[in-house]
Amino acid sequence: IVTPVLLCGGSGTRLWPLSRKSYPKQFTTLAGEGSLFQQSAQRLSGQEEDLSFDAPLVVTNSDFRFIVTEQLSEAGIDPGPVLIEPEGRNTAPAVLAAALHLLARDPGAVMLVAPSDHVIPDAAAFRRAVSAGLASVQAGRIVTFGITPDRPETGYGYLELAARPDGSGAAMALTRFIEKPDATRAAEMLANGAYLWNSGIFLFRAADILEAFEQHAPDMIAPVRASVAEARPDLGFLRLAPDPWARVRDVSIDYAVMEKSDRLSVVPFAAGWSDLGGWDAVWRETEADARGVVTSAHATAIDCDNSLLRSESDGLELVGIGLKDMIAIAMPDAVLVAPMDRAQDVKRAVEALKARK
Ligand code: GDD
Ligand code: MG
Repeated sequence: IVTPVLLCGGSGTRLWPLSRKSYPKQFTTLAGEGSLFQQSAQRLSGQEEDLSFDAPLVVTNSDFRFIVTEQLSEAGIDPGPVLIEPEGRNTAPAVLAAALHLLARDPGAVMLVAPSDHVIPDAAAFRRAVSAGLASVQAGRIVTFGITPDRPETGYGYLELAARPDGSGAAMALTRFIEKPDATRAAEMLANGAYLWNSGIFLFRAADILEAFEQHAPDMIAPVRASVAEARPDLGFLRLAPDPWARVRDVSIDYAVMEKSDRLSVVPFAAGWSDLGGWDAVWRETEADARGVVTSAHATAIDCDNSLLRSESDGLELVGIGLKDMIAIAMPDAVLVAPMDRAQDVKRAVEALKARK
């Protein structure tokens, strides 16, 4: 039995103005049916011959707690524990808290840590990849899922393979994990061919990740353990204790553990994955017309090429004329216009607006 651990504490600022602090991208419908969070939960539910999932454990913050339970029930999924972080300290504390919570109930717990803001169109293929990783997990390995890179992305982690994938889909040994390289390094790794992107999804036994923290980030264990031990139940949610939590280092699991571990394996996953990290990715993942234009309802493109036009409001018509490689997003209270290749800079809009308040 595998327990999905769904991380949804991020605020997704690169998808402003659709994604907001109070309602970030993972809860919005960007591609496919249902929100990204609902699709993630559904992908990791149900039972197959060699794989069955427990109710998901969700780690989130106080603002999102009701969105989480509402969206799970709307998707017909029984919620498991919902851990509430007093404040976001990035993914390492969130994963460690989930591991300690599960270990207290089942020393053999196996967890599948997944972000809630990815698009994986073929859920069945993904579940097969999870099954393929289980044997390695039982041998004490930390399993990652690797994506074939198609551009020198600097916002992802890279997995260095010991050998080229043989196409069998079986787990392979990793020699190294490199989180968010600079542009030169990313281009080298793309050209080299022996690297995969880290999908940000991990499979391991709770006991093994705890051991990895003991080895590579021992300072984090005591405060997270205290925060879990003193957690306060509240309307079915479990609020992690704030005082010890405030002492936990703010760091991602990638930097805290993955870059340092020598027990990593990878299951190559080739059936389609996207991290919808910005509007350029949303444009890439949505079916476009013959000129590469994606429009929503209430958006009209006249003589445009390779552009994304979205109106998020019934009463607001958005029209673009002669646009090339542009993004235009209209919300009732905010409008974004930017060249496609500046999509990663949208987080600066949020910073600029915050500074003005
Ligand atoms: N509960 C909780 N608390 N969740 C968090 C927190 C937090 O403090 N911070 C981030 N998350 C959630 C986000 O909502 C997202 O679903 C997931 O954890 C990953 O965080 P990101 O901030 O989106 O990470 P990233 O995209 O920069 O990098 C990770 O994902 C890439 C692939 O998408 C890394 O694992 C990279 O190596 C990887 O390539
Ligand atoms: Mg991300």
